[in-house]
Amino acid sequence: MQPSSFPNVTVLDHPLVRHKLTRLRQVETSTAGFRRLTREISLLMAYEATRDMKLEDVEIETPLEPMTGQLLSGKKLCFVSILRAGNGILDGMLDLVPAARVGHLGLYRDPATLEPVEYYIKLPEDMGERLCIVVDPMLATGHSAAAAVTKLKQAGARQIVFVCLLSVPEGLRAFTAAHPDVKVVTAAIDRELDDHGYIRPGLGDAGDRLFGTK
Ligand code: URA
Repeated sequence: MQPSSFPNVTVLDHPLVRHKLTRLRQVETSTAGFRRLTREISLLMAYEATRDMKLEDVEIETPLEPMTGQLLSGKKLCFVSILRAGNGILDGMLDLVPAARVGHLGLYRDPATLEPVEYYIKLPEDMGERLCIVVDPMLATGHSAAAAVTKLKQAGARQIVFVCLLSVPEGLRAFTAAHPDVKVVTAAIDRELDDHGYIRPGLGDAGDRLFGTK
């Protein structure tokens, strides 16, 4: 784990993550491989994204003696997947926290303006009582991420973490300016966005590679 030069942005810098991310980027990685790697990296990212969850003491008995243990306190987690590529990350997160509530937010990028357009939203009711972990593999312009978080705040979310595989400096600048209170966890900060809004060197279109579409 490495703090970045952006406030509130953590790069999950770990040999396993770097290895898996390199395999993920490779053009020859199959759809099945891409899906599996995304899931595995996401599980590791969930570990960092949930670091600030609250615990409470509980009295338990082991087979040998009583002791004070700790369990997660109160309402817990909500994952929000930005459709459709967010679902690849969601699978890995749910491997780690299978009981979490899940929201879905459908946003697509208008190819001409690169601005986000909402087409679907379904969220749990008690967003304000949960740590809300928003997942989208690519933080590119940052506009979709910022629009998604604005929606979640309007729905009552108060504690939000944004998790992505790849990001770029310009996207992080835009996102953190719009939501300075939101922590970002990313596996890598790439060089730049190209003229089509793709992250370079990147991994291509995350949704297409996850679902085998073009
Ligand atoms: N979305 C993607 O899937 N890939 C990019 O490089 C940028 C946005």
